[in-house]
Amino acid sequence: MKFSKLDVFGTVISALILVAAPLAAVAGVDEMAKECDECHGKGGNSTEHKDVPSIAGFSAVTIEDTLNQYKTGDRKGMKYKEDDGEETDMNKEAEELSDEDIKALAKHYAGQKFIAHKQDFDAAQVKKGAKVHDKSCEKCHSEGGTNAADDAAILSGQWRDYLETQMSDLHSGKRDAPKKMMKKFEKLEDGEIKALIEYYVSQQ
Ligand code: HEC
Ligand code: HEC
Repeated sequence: MKFSKLDVFGTVISALILVAAPLAAVAGVDEMAKECDECHGKGGNSTEHKDVPSIAGFSAVTIEDTLNQYKTGDRKGMKYKEDDGEETDMNKEAEELSDEDIKALAKHYAGQKFIAHKQDFDAAQVKKGAKVHDKSCEKCHSEGGTNAADDAAILSGQWRDYLETQMSDLHSGKRDAPKKMMKKFEKLEDGEIKALIEYYVSQQ
């Protein structure tokens, strides 16, 4: 039997595809996480972008739930311009992830150490914020919003910019949240929101 050049080429391509496909499937969590880190910072600590949350040290449950919320569209991520100028959001980022990818990424970031950002804060507001927090939020965001085991994100030590956006979206109802938390938010005044943010920023 005589092969034409094209046949040989075809065979080589098929062989390459056979090899490449399983490689892609096990591309590995480190490869995936590299893309996440472009926005979320090295190891999930958001040192570069003040409007992006740190995700290092969150519980695996929180990360998995959140990525699933983005994937289904239950949580709408804000539009975000990548360094190359292309616009995306967390919904698009999560769309391409399989259940296994999400589990692996959740485990990866849960294993990183959360590093609180150093920021200036208004000490008088912090006092007021601490009181509001203890009364309305500590039950689910324990240890001053630092305890990942609550499965409710880490609030303390996040950038002020990010907290302002989320708190405002939660207050206006633009972002949905557990019913019991929404009830607390409905009762908050604008001044209390501001004080809470200063409190979370002050925990470093
Ligand atoms: C283009 C930038 C960008 C990329 C890439 C990106 N993210 Fe995000 N991520 C964001 C922004 C911005 C937010 C806040 C979005 C919002 O809900 O408005 C966010 C939010 C999150 C949250 C929620 C955190 C919280 O405190 O509630 C998780 C979890 C998350 N991202 C995980 C990931 C993972 C895992 C990847 C990689 C598969 C990834 N992100 C890739 C920008 C990005
Ligand atoms: C009944 C429990 C509960 C109470 C009370 C509660 N929260 Fe939450 N909170 C959660 C859970 C669970 C999440 C994560 C789930 C989600 O994003 O829908 C969350 C998420 C958040 C987030 C988003 C964090 C992020 O990075 O995405 C903010 C901000 C927040 N809470 C602030 C507060 C504040 C401020 C109070 C008090 C006024 C409060 N919460 C009271 C359970 C609660």
